[in-house]
Amino acid sequence: MNALTHPIVSFNHVGKLFEVDGGSLEAIREFNLQIAEGEFVAIVGSSGCGKSTLLRLLIGLDTDFRGEIQVDGKAVTGIGSERGIVFQEHRLFPWLTVEENIGLGLVNEPLSNEQRQRRVHDFIDLVGLKDFTRAYPHQLSGGMAQRVAIARGLVASPRILLLDEPFGALDALTRQQMQDELLAIRERAHITTVLVTHDVEEAIFLADRVVVMEPRPGRIKRVVDIDLPHPRQRSSFDFHQLREELLHELTSDGHYVAPQPEQIRDLHPAFIAC
Ligand SMILES: Nc1ncnc2c1ncn2[C@@H]1O[C@H](COP(=O)(O)OP(=O)(O)OP(=O)(O)O)[C@@H](O)[C@H]1O
Ligand SMILES: [Mg+2]
Repeated sequence: MNALTHPIVSFNHVGKLFEVDGGSLEAIREFNLQIAEGEFVAIVGSSGCGKSTLLRLLIGLDTDFRGEIQVDGKAVTGIGSERGIVFQEHRLFPWLTVEENIGLGLVNEPLSNEQRQRRVHDFIDLVGLKDFTRAYPHQLSGGMAQRVAIARGLVASPRILLLDEPFGALDALTRQQMQDELLAIRERAHITTVLVTHDVEEAIFLADRVVVMEPRPGRIKRVVDIDLPHPRQRSSFDFHQLREELLHELTSDGHYVAPQPEQIRDLHPAFIAC
């Protein structure tokens, strides 16, 4: 990818330590990555290699780190509406309807009620949930709930969308449908996307570049360009070759640990609607 002379996202010498039991744990070391506007970057790596931590730093939920993260040339110092995030578990509020949950994505936007309503309904249409506007999360399937979470991540029209294992809990078929939908949404909205996934096929199917991380401390092992034209064929020879290559990168050192479903840490509007 060129256009990296003016990246929309830039990680410069980023490092992150956590204090654990009186000692310190180095979660990220010397992470450097430039992401061009409109680019789709996937991050893969063993459990605990710092993928979610990187997204939390980029979204601005944790500002205690070394180095600098820039969005559009400005240092990240907190959350901002140009960045949206979707977590592995959908984190919908069970007592709010689909439209109310999506509306939470607009809490910080200076809009009239009418504009807010219109925007929410546009995004309900976009993710194909028109007949479920007033439904509660327990009345939705896993895939539908995840679509609501994606609509909430997109409703403030972010320029950058961060996705942390967004389809991890879905069955294989729904997962593929969601991947197709994500590509279609991206096509229409030209959003820069950073996807964390443990699914190498998902990364190759969707991304322009795949960042392979290695653990303890989390750092970049390799960045692989995915130059296959869209729509990508999972059964093609080139796809298969890339899959083998990435799996080898991930597992060749014998330390690969598969990620477990992420634990919900803070279920708070400021956390989900940024
Ligand atoms: N709030 C925290 N306090 C202390 N340690 C943390 C905290 N958050 C993450 N860590 C540690 O930082 C490391 C990276 O964690 P992170 O959640 O970013 O990994 P991950 O790559 O997302 O893993 P997974 O694939 O399992 O989701 C881990 O060793 C984890 O234990
Ligand atoms: Mg994680």
